Order: sequence, then C-alpha cells, then structure tokens
Amino acid sequence: MITTPIRLRDLPMLEAFEDEAFWQNPYPALAKAQQSGSPLYRSMIGPLALGFEMTREIGKDPRFGVSSAKEALAGIGVGQPLIEAFNYSLLHINPPEHTERRSIIGRRFGAASVRDLEPRIKETADRLLDELIDTREADFITSTGGPLATQTFCSLLDAPLSDAPLIEGWTRDMATGLKVQRDETMARRADLGSERVLNYLGRLAKDRLGKNTEDALSIILKGFLEAGYEHPTELAAATFAQVMMDGIDTVKNALTNGLHSLLSHPEALEALQENPALVPSAIEEMLRFDGPTLLTGRKALEDIDFHGVRISAGTPISLVWLAANRDQTRFPNPDRFDVHRKSNRHVAFGVGIHSCAGANLARLQMRIFFDRLLKRVRRIERVGDEPKWLPFGIARGLRSLPIRVDAR
Ligand code: HEM
Repeated sequence: MITTPIRLRDLPMLEAFEDEAFWQNPYPALAKAQQSGSPLYRSMIGPLALGFEMTREIGKDPRFGVSSAKEALAGIGVGQPLIEAFNYSLLHINPPEHTERRSIIGRRFGAASVRDLEPRIKETADRLLDELIDTREADFITSTGGPLATQTFCSLLDAPLSDAPLIEGWTRDMATGLKVQRDETMARRADLGSERVLNYLGRLAKDRLGKNTEDALSIILKGFLEAGYEHPTELAAATFAQVMMDGIDTVKNALTNGLHSLLSHPEALEALQENPALVPSAIEEMLRFDGPTLLTGRKALEDIDFHGVRISAGTPISLVWLAANRDQTRFPNPDRFDVHRKSNRHVAFGVGIHSCAGANLARLQMRIFFDRLLKRVRRIERVGDEPKWLPFGIARGLRSLPIRVDAR
C-alpha cells in the first residue's frame, strides 16, 4: 500500500508557545498535545518533537545535525555580539569539527576530571550555606543557587571569586537574549553581556598562553594549540563563553527548580531528611520532573522521511526534552515527583553526540549541594506566594525563590 507523506503544514499545531500561561506551567499543554500520537508537531518556533522515543531517535540520527549560530540566531533577530559568542558553541557545529572540539573540551569535563573539584565545590556550598543560615530568609537564586554555579566556574578558571557577580550578571544577560520573545533592552543587554564575556575570557586566554597553568581555559587552549587551530586564544575564549553560559545558567536553574520541586512535595523532602542516601536518585528525579532546559535544536541535513513526515533538508526541528521527560509511555505516573523512582533514564541532558558535555559537573554540584543542605539545615520552607517562572525562554527557570531556613 502506498501511503501519502505527511507535510509539515499538516502536523497538529501546538499554539501554547505564544501564551504566558504555558510558560508558567508547560506540562498540561505538552501532555495534551502528545495524546494525538503524532510523531511531530508545528509551533511558532517551527516543528517540534515531544515524545521520549521521537526526541531520542532524532537526537541519535546522523541525518539530523545542528544549525550554525548565524543560521539559528540571526533568524530570530539576535545581535552580532551574541552570535559571535555562540559561533564556536559545540551546539552549533557538526562533525567532523564537532568531534575534535568536543574531545578537547571533554578533557576537563569527564567524570574523573571533575572529581578533583569536589573539595572546592563543598567549601563553596558550605560558605554559602553559612551565609544563608545567618540571614535565615533569602531568595535562593541570588543568595545560593547562582553564586554556587558561578563560583564553581571561577574555580574551574582559577579566577578570583570577586569576579563571580560580574560573570553571573553577564551570563544571565546572554541567556535573556535567547528568549523566544524579547524587547530591545533585553537584546542590548544580551549583546553587552556577550561582549564582556568574550573580552574577559580573551584576556585570560592571552595571559595563560605559553604558561604551565592547569585551569579549564588553559587545558582547552593547549588542546587547540596542539590540534593546530589558527587563532587558538580567540577560539578558546569563544568556545569557553558558551560552555560558561550553559554551565552557569543551567546549574543555577537545576538547583532552584530541584529545590522548588522538593519544597512543593513535603513528603519527598521528609524522605530525603530521613534517608540522605536517596540524594542521587532525588537529583535524577529533579532533572526529569522539572529540568532547566526546555528544548534544543536540530536541523535536517538532507531530505528525510521521518515516520511518514516529509522533512526537507535545512528544516530546523526542536527537541522538547521537558515534554519527553513527562512522556507517559516511558515514565509511569509522569506528573508525580517520586524520589524513589526506579529506571529513571531521562533526557534532561539531551541525547546523541550533542548530549550535555557538562553533565558530570552538573550532577556533582547538585549532589554536593543537596547533601550539605540536608546536613546543615533542619527546616527549610518557601516564603510568600507561589513563585513565577521566567517566560518565553528555552531555559526553564524561576524569577526568584524566597525561602526561610533553620540550622540544625
Ligand atoms: C543540570 C544542568 C545541565 C543541564 C540540564 C544541561 C542540559 C543540556 C542539554 C539538554 C544540552 C543539549 C543536548 C542535545 O541537544 O542533545 C546540553 C548541551 C551542552 N551542555 Fe549542558 N546542561 C547542564 C549543565 C552544563 C554544564 C555545567 C556545562 C559546562 C560545564 C554544560 C555544557 C554543555 C555543552 C558544552 C553542551 C553542548 C554539547 C555539544 O553540542 O556537544 N552543561 N546541555
């Protein structure tokens, strides 16, 4: 039997992206859309894959690559400095360049390599918890989550901790520039943030050139030098700019979203307080239940027939990881936050050759932070009204998370 290929314009439309309510709680609309069982969907940002199997299949299929930063970002009106900051991002390069650069960056972020950061991260988490316990009430993002993620990067760069607030502000502005809807002020701040990050890392890279330094930027710089790249200092700075923005913004949101999930499910918090050995499985559940990355992009590198849908070469497709992580065909009771969940192989870190290069570091920071929090704090609760989410971004993060703590 000959079946007629489905055209992209005939796919079911997910209108919700245009709606502020969607960004406050995307899960009902994502679940409702998935009931149609379509392999792909349409939206204001182009075609989407929502299901667990579909996102995995596309993520692993070499016929789908990624768009250059210019292609991906110029189309949505992003300024030149932000495009430059993302030009060398691994998420905008295809093999063979991707394979070599990823292996150079991977030298500092493999499971064994990040373990030596453990004492520094522990020290940072304890210092931030001391301050939180002293003040008793604070916004978790600005007092603890953001500083922990940023100061970990200062440790990685061997940069002074006093630079952390500047770095955090610049990377936050860069992330704002990637929003699906943004005004001119946000766009200008994103450009300025990108320029400052590139200048800062460029100066550090020049300073470290030819020295026997062992920080993450020096390791990447040495890798590019050995591989014979032209302009290795500029390349190392630009490559690290995206790693740093990704690494700070996602971990800050992962810690905050994770804590928010715990505080919204008191039975889960109690289970952890009684049995801290549950922290590693609780972290996987935090990442599955409300991870920090809504989606990332791919592009068809050739004409593809995907489950009967005709996709022309060059078509961009978004893989919606947060929808895949709530797919009921993969996760029983997907909307239940269950820190005891078994077989929790979620896709919060993506899939395939572009899957997150910083997953080991992210998990390490989350494990250390929640371990220390449970040891140091007897009571922790949310203060004020239900917190609001930042809308229209590919990052899922709260505006603020006011909390109150009592020390043990
Ligand atoms: C909980 C925290 C984090 C989450 C949930 C997360 C999630 C992701 C996701 C979904 C992708 C895209 C995967 C894909 O498209 O298949 C990605 C890519 C990436 N992430 Fe993360 N990330 C986190 C933390 C970090 C950290 C700490 C770093 C840096 C040390 C980092 C560096 C990167 C890089 C360099 C890429 C691009 C990889 C490539 O294209 O080869 N991420 N991340």
